[in-house]
Amino acid sequence: MNHNSTRYTKIAIVLHGLVALGIFVMFALGWYMSEIPKDAAKQTAFDLFDLGVYTWQLSEAASPRTFYFNLHKSIGITLLAVIALRVLWRITHRPPAMLASYKAWERKLATGTHHLLYLLMIAMPVSGLIMAINSKYGVMWFGIDFIGGLDNKNLRELFHEVHEIVGLVFVAFIILHIAGALKHKFIDKDDTLKRMSLK
Ligand code: HEM
Ligand code: HEM
Repeated sequence: MNHNSTRYTKIAIVLHGLVALGIFVMFALGWYMSEIPKDAAKQTAFDLFDLGVYTWQLSEAASPRTFYFNLHKSIGITLLAVIALRVLWRITHRPPAMLASYKAWERKLATGTHHLLYLLMIAMPVSGLIMAINSKYGVMWFGIDFIGGLDNKNLRELFHEVHEIVGLVFVAFIILHIAGALKHKFIDKDDTLKRMSLK
């Protein structure tokens, strides 16, 4: 990425959008699935989030908890691969310089928040993956056996805690980040949001 350009490149914009969308879906799945009762009956058709929009058919019956946990893990490791690509891309390409109109505190806050968001977008799926590997179930990727479970209760519980706490910190900084983007659009009325959007 050219340091003198005023916009993010198409690749940076698409990666930012894909990862943001994936993270929103993962929070929705994570919170939704935690509320599913453990004793619900097995079924083969799952109306995603009970929205009546898309029904997922399975070849073998599974409990709703198993279905949503497996979906969360499958999308999660796929997203981890996209995040790894995004981080590699970021390390090898410089983002455009911040707008000259930013005040010193805005530069510090935005830079710090961006670095922390990168850290959190790695810590979140990695803590989930370590938790899942230490459960007795392991990890399947869309029905394919991926990593067997180690059944280590202590580590599973520890990384469950980490996954929850990192999640709360992540939500707080995502809200701050979006509030910042909206402030630039509606209060400062500058080009911040435009340069991270495809046209
Ligand atoms: C950016 C990616 C991810 C996000 C945003 C995310 C978010 C969440 C959230 C919000 C919860 C609910 C926490 C709670 O209140 O109990 C959760 C639970 C969980 N996540 Fe993730 N997650 C991500 C990646 C992963 C990955 C990659 C895996 C494993 C491969 C994973 C495995 C799990 C498991 C097993 C639980 C349920 C823990 C339990 O209740 O026993 N997560 N996740
Ligand atoms: C999970 C959600 C999100 C994450 C993890 C995230 C993460 C990031 C990161 C790490 C950067 C820094 C890019 C770099 O310079 O290397 C960034 C930039 C940016 N994000 Fe997000 N983002 C998310 C959602 C959003 C949303 C929903 C919006 C719009 C409302 C948004 C608007 C922006 C804008 C405008 C920039 C460019 C700031 C600048 O010009 O320097 N982001 N985002």
